Amino acid sequence: MRVLCLNGPNLNRLGKREKDAYGTFTLAELEAELAEFAAEQNFELTCRQSNHEGELIDWIHQAGDEGLEGIVLNAGAYTHTSVAIRDAISAIQVPVIEVHISNVYKREEFRHHSYIAPVAAGQITGFGKDVYKLALHALLLGNQRG
Ligand code: DQA
Repeated sequence: MRVLCLNGPNLNRLGKREKDAYGTFTLAELEAELAEFAAEQNFELTCRQSNHEGELIDWIHQAGDEGLEGIVLNAGAYTHTSVAIRDAISAIQVPVIEVHISNVYKREEFRHHSYIAPVAAGQITGFGKDVYKLALHALLLGNQRG
């Protein structure tokens, strides 16, 4: 199994930003933990982060072209704004699992709407950094519908 873990805008600031909402771990720590999990479970994981919508879209297309088995996507605030990211997901065959570190439904109303959810295989929100591993477990179980 080959999986892309994609983090969007401001997630490079984990550990420094809004610790009440996102915890104290850094992106580097998160990615190291996920790399360890991938090695244990014997699958290939690539982690990327960008603050730029177009770059995220290019990586989504690339994952589609390469026929990866899954994408774990935390699109950050683009979740709530980006028709372009939603269209990129619709344009590929790879199942995308939407994740959020915080429980977006407990927060401001503008975070309750996701452009991505209707085209995602599923959504996991509110379990801190464990949302990434939970999404990887879902891909390993292999019964998401894409
Ligand atoms: C987030 C929630 C979004 O509303 C926010 O804009 C983020 C992070 C989360 O992981 O909880 O940047 O996606």
